[in-house]
Formats: sequence, structure tokens, C-alpha cells
Amino acid sequence: MKLKSLSLENVRNYEKLRFDFPDEKIIVIQGLNAQGKTNFLESILLLSLTKTFSNAKQEDLIMWGKDFARISGVITDQKDLLSLEFFWGKTKQFPKTLKINNVKKKTEDFVGNLQVVIFTPKEMNLISDPPSIRRKYLNIILSQTDKKYLQNLINFQNTLKNRNALLKMINDKKSKEDELVFWDKKLTEEGSDIYFKRRKFISKIQESLSNNYSHVAGKENLLSIMWNKNIPESLEDIKIFYKNKIENMRGKDIITETTLSGPHRDDFSIFLNGKEISISGSRGEWRSAILALKLSEVNYIKNTTGKTPILLLDDVLSEFDPLRQKNVLNLFHAEQIIITTAHPINKPEDSRIYEVRNGVITE
Ligand SMILES: Nc1ncnc2c1ncn2[C@@H]1O[C@H](COP(=O)(O)OP(=O)(O)OP(=O)(O)O)[C@@H](O)[C@H]1O
Ligand SMILES: [Mg+2]
Repeated sequence: MKLKSLSLENVRNYEKLRFDFPDEKIIVIQGLNAQGKTNFLESILLLSLTKTFSNAKQEDLIMWGKDFARISGVITDQKDLLSLEFFWGKTKQFPKTLKINNVKKKTEDFVGNLQVVIFTPKEMNLISDPPSIRRKYLNIILSQTDKKYLQNLINFQNTLKNRNALLKMINDKKSKEDELVFWDKKLTEEGSDIYFKRRKFISKIQESLSNNYSHVAGKENLLSIMWNKNIPESLEDIKIFYKNKIENMRGKDIITETTLSGPHRDDFSIFLNGKEISISGSRGEWRSAILALKLSEVNYIKNTTGKTPILLLDDVLSEFDPLRQKNVLNLFHAEQIIITTAHPINKPEDSRIYEVRNGVITE
């Protein structure tokens, strides 16, 4: 899969941009700090997911002082051309609109057409960061490969908000406890599905993780992922497990006015040769582990969707020495790789170099 063109209107610091991608496989966008490197890649991710999964709200993504924003792009997969458009605004006057080939689409039909794998310096800290970052990682990949996942996740987050509000009311004696029944049932349904899909994904990528790590590091190693909770394997068993858990925790939930159990508390750790990497691994081992994870992610997307994702590397190459930089680019079997960099890098083979300055990209 490749992007042929990308147009941005009022997206962060891009007032108007039309970028035609060259035929070269690797596109390097270099620029000083705060010129729009991350924003450029973020907009591609947005076109893929219509959601950032960062702390930014949709309105933060609109250029300051403007009312709406638009991202559109043409992608090609083998011979097929597809034009995608994502429009959103600050007020109801500019409702969120998604279009494929100029026809309006629902989120679930829009998401999953443009497959990307993003690798940012933030993800280098995937190992040491708080659990929410690891959940975000899972959400990004699962939303792209599973139509229902994103919608279910949004529903779950709404259910959680409503249930927490009700818990507060119950604790304040303004509502009755049996009002929870409705929300608990919804929570069980939606939450179990998230638990199930996340675990299925991790067990699938485990298969290639050690192999990929060994490729990156140059010698045999064992890389594995372990969840913070033991959850049953089948969806049916997960539902029973989660239902019981919610029931058992009800008293505590009311006192604390929060839902204490569920996939919103999910977390995992990474182990290298049996040792938890966040405790004993070197910085270099962290980097290689994340790289292995990303490689497994590309394979996972290929295997589940049949499409080769576009690889977005946000200023991460400079974290590797020149030899490994070359390795990184060769290890990923992508058709298109978009790299940003604040530091000069050696021109990769089959690449074209651009410069970004203040939201304007030139060759
Ligand atoms: N909504 C917005 N409207 C206008 N400008 C914005 C908006 N949001 C962010 N910016 C600005 O866009 C500029 C570019 O940000 P970006 O993160 O893309 O920089 P960068 O080139 O990746 O820099 P670095 O090398 O430091 O990572 C920043 O100055 C930022 O403040
Ligand atoms: Mg940046």
C-alpha cells in the first residue's frame, strides 16, 4: 500500500498543503524542531483512524483560529486507487464527515482502508511509560485491523463514563444500586470483547517476536510478552470471568466512585530471555525490543488484512547507529516508508529528501 498524495487544510500548523508522493520507496522529511514533522505523520495516522489516541482533542488538531480542518489523501493498493477524506470542525456547524471516493461513510467503514504502522520516540518508551501508553499501542493496531474494535472501544469508554457517574450518584445516595445492572451488562459485553481481541493479538505476535528480535540483535534471543492479569482464553469464559469480577468489586467501585476492573486497567510487560526488560534491560535492548514489536506488527497487519502497511518513522532513525539505520529500513518489508528527521541522516537507497519549514514542504 502507498500514499499517492496528501492534502491538508488547517491541520495543526499546515494551513494548506498538497503533497504528491514520489515513486521512491523512502520519503525523508527533514526540518528543524517545531516545523511540522510530527504533525505531517500524525495527519496520516488521523486519515487512517480518524482518532489520535493522544491527549489531544479533535479540536486541538485544527489550526489555531480556524473553525474546521480537512485531511484528504489518495492511496493505492496494487492497481486500485482510493480517495479518502476526513473533515471535522470545532462546532456543530461543521460536523465530522468521512468520505471514500466522495461518498459519505460511517467510521467503521472508513477506518481500516489506510493501513499504517507508526514508530515514534514516544514508543521507544513503550516499555517504561505508564500502562495507558501500552493500551494506546494496542488500540491503534486493533482499530486498524478490526472494524468492530474501534466502535466497541468508543462504546466501552462511554459506558465507563456513565457507570462512573452513576457510582458517584449511588455513593451520594442519589441513586439506587440496582440501576447498575444495565450498565454492568453493557460493560461485560463490550469489555470482554476488548480483553479477548487484545489477548488474541498478543498471542499471535508472540510467534514472531523472538525471531524478529534475533534478527535485529544479530543473535538468538527469547522475547515474550506477559499480561498483568490472567484472563481466560475463550470469549465465553472471559464474559463469565469479567461478570464475576464486576459483581465482586461492586462495593469497592461505589466507595471509590470508579470502575476498578476492566480492560481500561490492562497492562503487559516485555521479557527478554526471561528477565523483565523494563527492570534489567539496557537502552539498546529496549530499542531492539520495540523494533521487534513493530516488525511483528507489520507482519500482523499483512496477515490479517492482506495489505502492506505504510511505515511512519518519526525521528527515530537517529536513535540508531548508521549501520543499524540501514538495517532498520531493510528489515521492514514496506512498500512506502515516510521518515522525518531533525538530524541529518545518510540518504537511504531509493529515497527522496524534502525539507519542512513552518508547515511548508519543499524538495
Ligand atoms: N492547532 C495548532 N495550530 C497551529 N499550530 C499548531 C497547532 N498544534 C500544534 N501546532 C504547532 O505546530 C508546530 C510543529 O509541531 P510538530 O510537532 O509537527 O513539530 P516537529 O517538526 O515534529 O518538531 P520536533 O523536531 O520538535 O519534534 C509546533 O510549533 C506546534 O506548536
Ligand atoms: Mg516531532
